[in-house]
Amino acid sequence: MKSISVGLLGLGTVGSGVVKIIKNHQDKLAHELGCSINIKKVLVKDESKQRDVSIDNSKITTRANELIDDPEIDVIIEVMGGIEQTKNYLMQALHNKKHVVTANKDLIAVYGSELLATARENECDLFYEASVAGGIPIIRSLVDGLVSDRITKMMGIVNGTTNFILTKMSKFGSPYSQVLKQAQDLGFAETDPSSDVEGIDAARKMAILARLGFSMNVDLQDVRVKGISHITEDDIYYSQKLGYEMKLIGVAKRDQESIEVSVEPTLLSQDHPLANVQDEYNAVYVYGEAVGETMFYGPGAGSLPTATAIVSDLVAILKNLHLGVNGKSSVVPQHEKQLKNRGDIFAQYFLRIHVKDQVGAFAHITELFSKRGVSFEKILQLPLEGHDVAEIVIITHPCSLKDFEEILEILKFYPVVDEVKSTYRVEGL
Ligand code: NAP
Ligand code: HSE
Repeated sequence: MKSISVGLLGLGTVGSGVVKIIKNHQDKLAHELGCSINIKKVLVKDESKQRDVSIDNSKITTRANELIDDPEIDVIIEVMGGIEQTKNYLMQALHNKKHVVTANKDLIAVYGSELLATARENECDLFYEASVAGGIPIIRSLVDGLVSDRITKMMGIVNGTTNFILTKMSKFGSPYSQVLKQAQDLGFAETDPSSDVEGIDAARKMAILARLGFSMNVDLQDVRVKGISHITEDDIYYSQKLGYEMKLIGVAKRDQESIEVSVEPTLLSQDHPLANVQDEYNAVYVYGEAVGETMFYGPGAGSLPTATAIVSDLVAILKNLHLGVNGKSSVVPQHEKQLKNRGDIFAQYFLRIHVKDQVGAFAHITELFSKRGVSFEKILQLPLEGHDVAEIVIITHPCSLKDFEEILEILKFYPVVDEVKSTYRVEGL
């Protein structure tokens, strides 16, 4: 039986999972492909590190050219992370006519178009299923399963670390720093976890989804991003009291041909299916004009779930090899990118403010909102014991982001307002 040689860049959380899946499922994979898979070389940073997977020491190297310049290696699997140096390795691999699989959303969000064009020029495949939502086959669903439809909205929980943190904070009141450490120990978080908690990781994934779903050249800079590090216990308490769950939600929405893409902590109605996505699980809601609503759900991070997506890309490459069609997928977006301005982005908002406990204070606030035509759907007012301020929590009816941000700027300097404590988008009613 013929054997296909693979070079693995990285043997950490995901790399170890890839080795395990290829080993544990070798009979099934050989049956599917008519050939066996041989991991010929593995690139690491530190050769002396203890690994939680058994691999012949002679296969481990710290010299990338032993993989990317080896003519016997057919496919490079990149699970080392990083951007600039990793891009150079993959460009060199593609010029050397090697197919590439990567889990690296940081790289794809920044250099995806360039890498895909280079792959095509060299008649190579470049697949990146694991880069968005770990074990959920969301990319293949957009590119193949829903290709005949016109996608109008994608809304998702696409970062496992932040969903894990928010679940533990909401359910058990666990402190933020303690659950972040747990997520790191479990291998969900990025090497620099600030990209998880500040929403950057999710923004990269939403840029990739929007690019595929809307066939436009969406960049990371096009995504409005807010992270979860400022969320307080009080915010979670009031969200739940009003019937919502706090989630980090990515939204990519198209009206006519203009789009908005964002990642921000969002209050989701407790009735919405995404509100029940717990721990490191991810889910993406996709709205298509013809299909209606579909939801893709599964583990969004972790060693084996992510590795299944990588090995499925490897299988797709090998099937293409049999058919002689590698590097033939279209890489040029169909539409010119058109981003909505803030006046065209509509949502409901949650606002928590401390207001001086004096006659007419609330009337001043309602007047400011009504002058802009923004009305309230829910209001909660509670005295704060031991303080001469009251806590007011408001959920607005849908209004433009422009109006809401302008109201906020005025509120910050309003004499009756002691402090604007927090604001969040609201979704899912
Ligand atoms: P990780 O545990 O930190 O592993 C990274 C591996 O790459 C390590 O084996 C490391 O070597 C090696 N490496 C890093 N920089 C290197 C360099 N400059 N030269 C040679 N080797 C280098 O990371 P991970 O969690 O597996 O993530 C890998 C990639 O998958 C990232 O792009 C990440 O965003 C993506 N991803 C991760 C998950 C997840 O759940 N973890 C899910 C989806 C996608 P040493 O072992 O010697 O340090
Ligand atoms: N750090 C990422 C997450 C890994 O938590 O979702 C999966 O991409």
